[in-house]
Amino acid sequence: MKIFLDTADTQTIRELSEMGLVDGVTTNPTLIARTGRKFEEVIKDICTLIDGPVNAEITSTTAGGILEEAHRIRQWGDQTVIKIPMNREGLKAVWRLSEEGIPTTVTLIFSVPQAILAAKAGARYLCPFVGRLDDISSEGTSLLYDITTVLNKYPEWDCEVMAASIRHPLHVVEAARAGVDIITIPPKVIDQMLIHPLTDKGIAQFLKDAELCYTK
Ligand code: E4P
Repeated sequence: MKIFLDTADTQTIRELSEMGLVDGVTTNPTLIARTGRKFEEVIKDICTLIDGPVNAEITSTTAGGILEEAHRIRQWGDQTVIKIPMNREGLKAVWRLSEEGIPTTVTLIFSVPQAILAAKAGARYLCPFVGRLDDISSEGTSLLYDITTVLNKYPEWDCEVMAASIRHPLHVVEAARAGVDIITIPPKVIDQMLIHPLTDKGIAQFLKDAELCYTK
């Protein structure tokens, strides 16, 4: 299973790369806006930090506009992946880009039928949103099980399921249980995954005991 970082914060990407945790990065307009920097500048910077896929989300609403934007973004780095919202115009662009060999992520997937259409259109990555379904009292993680169950039956659809909208460590555990290919995780959730009170207590005790018997 691969881990992508769901952030546009270059400092954090650099830090977490040092632990070998970053196979790729996902961004969206909200995450880019939080940096206070320009979209192009941020994506170019992220491309210098990691070797893996860097997801850059388009904002055009027509297939023609998306294609233009996609071609521009691809000039910023070979590893850029064009992130496109799930709708009719989006899927037209996904299919055209797949014919050109340009990888796409279909984002804002909230149902199995949407995942099937995105896979069929030629998306490289499918992004079901877990947390936003939970927010409306629907079970986000069930969607992951349903999508992986269906897609595993059709290996000819050469795409990877990337769990997104991850809000806490249990979402990560459930996504892993569902057998997704990738989980895109916000840095805050990575921090939560790292810690356990018994680990901290254990380290403190070992350091205390080491003072009695370890020579310095
Ligand atoms: C992924 O790339 C999505 O844009 C992101 O995970 C959405 O997360 P949110 O629902 O917490 O905004």
